[in-house]
Amino acid sequence: MIDDQPEAAGAAVAETENPIEGVFDGVEHVRGVAKPDSILIVDGMRRRFGGLVAVDVDHLEIQRGAITGLIGPNGAGKTTFFNLLTGFDTPDGGHVELNGASIDGVASHRLAARGMVRTFQLTKALSKLTVLENMMLGAKNQGGESFLRALFSPMWRAREAEVEVQARALLERFKLSHMADEYAGTLSGGQRKLIEMARALMSEPDLVMLDEPMAGVNPALTQSLLGHVKELRAEGRTVIFIEHDMDVVQDISDWVVVMAEGSIIAEGPPGSIAEHQQVVDAYLGTPDAPPGEPLSSETDGVPAAEMESDS
Ligand SMILES: Nc1ncnc2c1ncn2[C@@H]1O[C@H](COP(=O)(O)OP(=O)(O)O)[C@@H](O)[C@H]1O
Ligand SMILES: [Mg+2]
Repeated sequence: MIDDQPEAAGAAVAETENPIEGVFDGVEHVRGVAKPDSILIVDGMRRRFGGLVAVDVDHLEIQRGAITGLIGPNGAGKTTFFNLLTGFDTPDGGHVELNGASIDGVASHRLAARGMVRTFQLTKALSKLTVLENMMLGAKNQGGESFLRALFSPMWRAREAEVEVQARALLERFKLSHMADEYAGTLSGGQRKLIEMARALMSEPDLVMLDEPMAGVNPALTQSLLGHVKELRAEGRTVIFIEHDMDVVQDISDWVVVMAEGSIIAEGPPGSIAEHQQVVDAYLGTPDAPPGEPLSSETDGVPAAEMESDS
């Protein structure tokens, strides 16, 4: 069982190199700060739901090759922000550049061809398909469309064998080969998280966006997932991940972006964020806190400038 492999996972974590070590030296701990080599640049991104401003991000740059943690209390707008960046929702205004080119209005299924994929907070494995078939859904074809859209294309059949080889290799890497022919519906929650990450890699992305990849998984599997995220960085990929667990954030983030009430309120290396325990308490809440508690009163009590001024 996948959940029983802490040694292997631990070894992977220990061995993985960080090729971008030191890249943030000299980058100010100020929200909106420019990065040495930004893969993603967001400007003036806004999303309203009725009277609620769910996302209002003036400027954010994501360093290429780094692991950036996106944190903030429940309801801060993190998932909505991901949805806007990945074409699953449409902003009321704003611009996004990926690899120097605008991706405004680009549909989610076309973004994989542009190098960007995301996973979901609640995994979306299709339970009536096998694990292997779920993996193959993550592949991109030459037109940049998903497997699902390309199913009836004759071009696809020629590539299918190639895609299957790639899917099986990724299942091997994630130690899920033995599950290839099982229906995804039979997987444990933890195994679904692994499949979700493995499937995201089918399109060989430059930028991987993970929404709470470790939520609800046991400690051994968390270690395994952490190892896989560090491997993505070692391969030169960029990772942005949403996470509640500050130990996880401290462990794998090169840079942390803090969101509250739709806006970026601070950014900096993980150490600079953790120094402010009152901010951690105020902005992150606890994993046990009921959803929909935006902690707005505490937010008001801790000015963002207090975080930014410190290193
Ligand atoms: N489709 C929607 N319709 C209305 N309100 C929404 C919708 N999606 C999110 N929201 C609201 O937007 C805010 C941000 O939610 P979300 O992005 O899920 O936050 P987070 O992921 O940081 O917990 C919340 O107040 C949430 O209730
Ligand atoms: Mg969320």
